[in-house]
Amino acid sequence: MSFQFEGNKEGKTNRPLVCVQGLGFVGLAMATVIANACDNDKILLYNVVGVDLPTNKNNIDIINKGELPFKTEDASFLDELRRAVLINKNFFTTSDMSFYSQADIVVVDVPLHIEKRSKNDYSKYSLSKKPFEQAIDSLGKKIKPECLVLIETTVPPGFCSKVVRPILEKNFESRNIVSSPIIAYSYERVMPGKEYLSSIRNYYRSFSGIDEKSTQKVKYFLESIINSKDYPLRREQETEACEFAKILENSYRAVNIAFIYEWTLLAENAGINLFSVIEGIKNRKTHNNIMEPGFGVGGYCLTKDSLLALWSADNFYNSVYGLPFSKRALEVNDKMPLHTIDLILQEMKVKNKKVAIMGISYRQDVGDTRFSPSELFYKELIKLKAICFVHDPYVEYWPECHEAPFIAFDHSLKDVDIIVFTVRHRCYSEATKEYLLEISKEGTLFVDAFNILDDEKISFLLKNNRNVIGVGKGHIKRIKETIKCQKY
Ligand SMILES: NC(=O)c1ccc[n+]([C@@H]2O[C@H](COP(=O)([O-])OP(=O)(O)OC[C@H]3O[C@@H](n4cnc5c(N)ncnc54)[C@H](O)[C@@H]3O)[C@@H](O)[C@H]2O)c1
Repeated sequence: MSFQFEGNKEGKTNRPLVCVQGLGFVGLAMATVIANACDNDKILLYNVVGVDLPTNKNNIDIINKGELPFKTEDASFLDELRRAVLINKNFFTTSDMSFYSQADIVVVDVPLHIEKRSKNDYSKYSLSKKPFEQAIDSLGKKIKPECLVLIETTVPPGFCSKVVRPILEKNFESRNIVSSPIIAYSYERVMPGKEYLSSIRNYYRSFSGIDEKSTQKVKYFLESIINSKDYPLRREQETEACEFAKILENSYRAVNIAFIYEWTLLAENAGINLFSVIEGIKNRKTHNNIMEPGFGVGGYCLTKDSLLALWSADNFYNSVYGLPFSKRALEVNDKMPLHTIDLILQEMKVKNKKVAIMGISYRQDVGDTRFSPSELFYKELIKLKAICFVHDPYVEYWPECHEAPFIAFDHSLKDVDIIVFTVRHRCYSEATKEYLLEISKEGTLFVDAFNILDDEKISFLLKNNRNVIGVGKGHIKRIKETIKCQKY
């Protein structure tokens, strides 16, 4: 396949070519940012080709029409994609890997899956190395010797030097290329949501090259696409350290979430509003990133990244100690949604009860359902013979539970017995107390699993013959008692 990039105002078509390998939640956002990168005179800097698998043809076609294959709250994402694909015509997507041979830079955003093989023993996991190795091999067969290969995929520490480098070197050797491959690592901190593109462009980045030449090349590239004036780049001395940083960062967050979970249970028993307690603690600057109680942890990163480091501990570093805290956090976080079921069961049996699960994506204001905590919740409720419906403003089809029937966030909820808010989507937290009353029937149990209802809404619903419980909200018991006293 050949494609002629359109020239910019000056008729320049010879911009450097950047291929982005893997056009998923990260790759498509990164490709859009690169395609819109300009110099000081507002001249576009790069032509961009997104390369995905032939099996992803549907998404490739959608992107080439200037559309997004998923919903997002960030309106600028669609605007910038359209500008690049339809107006500037410096970005298109294909499954044709021959474009790698023309690339000056390849950004690797393919996944590297690691799966837990046992529900009870997180020491048993399997890393699907092959697809990632094949992706790198497909580059090695085609890229120019001077092409920068920038890995953004989250990988086990040591992967760039011990896996990527040998694959590319072997390919170079068989192609009689004498120079060393140019390899760098810089991990994504992209936050799908309202600040999707901005979280790439306007945020701090760490990077590292496999050698000095790679380091300088990746620094130059990142500086050209990221607002490094306000968010200075940080160089790590080895790619291994940079790979380490990504996983430590996510493991730190996962451990904090697991830590708060045990306090959540205690606060509920003690009749305390843990959200209020935490708000107070946050006033102390050293503690202002303390986590809040919640329904569970999901997504492609926090649920697994610590295992990637465990894999390196076993396979590269021969570590005896391992990562017991990080491993335990994954276990605790994975099971967290079951706590909301326990809370419901304290109020009523769920057999033959109609339950509406409000939110099936892994976090607020995104449409990504991978490893969403709602999945375990839904499956356990089905086991308990509840009749479940789901709603999510960002999801039209739930691949992980494709049989789940959807319900609207409107009067159809009058037909259900239990309404569980599992994700803090904007439309749920912005719903007024009057609306919540209007769309529910008497006796409905509202379950606030992610601090969606404030005390005013909770009191209002309780006073109007609805029941309310919530994760980390032990104080609801007290509100109920006060209302009872007022009644009699
Ligand atoms: N989703 C996030 O918020 C996030 C944040 C930071 C880092 N990451 C990391 O970024 C990486 C990508 O994550 P994602 O969420 O974009 O995954 P994704 O599954 O949404 O996208 C990956 C894409 O790569 C494509 N692909 C797979 N093999 C390929 C190949 N050989 N050639 C071309 N395309 C190929 C897939 O078809 C898919 O479209 C992962 O390592 C992830 O851990 C993700």
